[in-house]
Amino acid sequence: MNDPFKENGCMPHRAAVTGWGWYSPTQVLSNHDLEKLVDTNDAWITSRTGIRERRIAAAGETTSSMATIAARQALAEAELQPDELDLIICATTTPDQLIPATACLIQRNLGAHRAGAFDLNTACTGFIYGLATGAQFIQGGGAKRILVVAGETLSRFMNWEDRSTCILFGDGAAAVVLEATTQQSGVLSTVLGSRGDIEQMLTIEAGGCARPASTETIAQKAHCVRMRGNEIFKMAVRNMAQSAQQALAKAGLTTNDIRAVIPHQANERILIATRDAIGISEDRMFMNIDRHGNTGASSIPIALGEFLQSTPVDVGDHLLLVSFGGGLTWGAAVLRWADIPAVKLERAAAQRAKLALIG
Ligand code: ACO
Repeated sequence: MNDPFKENGCMPHRAAVTGWGWYSPTQVLSNHDLEKLVDTNDAWITSRTGIRERRIAAAGETTSSMATIAARQALAEAELQPDELDLIICATTTPDQLIPATACLIQRNLGAHRAGAFDLNTACTGFIYGLATGAQFIQGGGAKRILVVAGETLSRFMNWEDRSTCILFGDGAAAVVLEATTQQSGVLSTVLGSRGDIEQMLTIEAGGCARPASTETIAQKAHCVRMRGNEIFKMAVRNMAQSAQQALAKAGLTTNDIRAVIPHQANERILIATRDAIGISEDRMFMNIDRHGNTGASSIPIALGEFLQSTPVDVGDHLLLVSFGGGLTWGAAVLRWADIPAVKLERAAAQRAKLALIG
């Protein structure tokens, strides 16, 4: 098996996932509930998307409040205190506000006093971009422990009169802790792509400097998601399949080496077509779209959390994450599951060595 790290020269650390957590709001919006809002029906939604229900944030909930709950779970799983974090990367398309970054609100909520914090927005591909960025920080030696968190409150950006979009999306948040390790595990490869020239396929047009908020933009519901779903569908399948293959090749692996694919939950038909295109068996692609809908950047880490809850993963198992979203953007990542107790021992040994130096 190729080792991309050795091939690329001296890389002392890899970025291993040592903690994870997710949060879904309690309020459920079923397809039958949607039948009362727009001209649609459960049979259409289920057969065209695979979605049966989605979770909607309660009035007081925001992207940062949901992300903070997920982040606390991830830190607890990793057995880390917030002030042990070096960096917080928040992937979101639906920030609490334009300034400050949602990552800063999460940093405040956690009390992560030592951490830098920033947001990134690549829509539904945000978690893959966040993972790739976090892994680069760790591999480059710029950080040891990073929270990659994704949160979306898409329900606040829906046109609840547009049946082609409002049936698809849901709210939620999820986080992972990425930690430096000398093990041959962690993020093995990432692939990122974009096509800004066809950005109009999926937009929230108003609210930025190009079209600031006005009574006109509000009347036109231009602060809501607009999407050419049909055109995106074909691009999503092609690019998810291609980037998955590229990430596997970069890691020196084939689909046979993959324990499970954790894809962005965009549409069940997109996932089945992608699964067929990359040649992975049905039982090795995790889907939870029926209960969550499309939760944007949060969808992969929520799915990862649910997958880990239901499926024992062994040290050395490979997971393939793949996504597609607004921008347009796409990406994939291959993870090799680390020996997490050993990473924690490495961490404790490094802390003891540091204390000994100070003492
Ligand atoms: N209920 C009933 N009928 C509907 C609904 C609805 N909710 N929505 C659309 N229709 C109708 C249309 O009006 C159309 O009717 P017509 O034939 O009389 O004109 C018919 O159903 C077919 O419409 P299509 O848009 O062709 O339906 P399609 O099978 O493509 O499904 C969907 C639409 C679900 C949006 C699909 O295209 C899709 O999932 N696209 C990809 C979405 C995606 O992946 N986005 C990127 C990630 S999201 C992010 O980045 C934030």
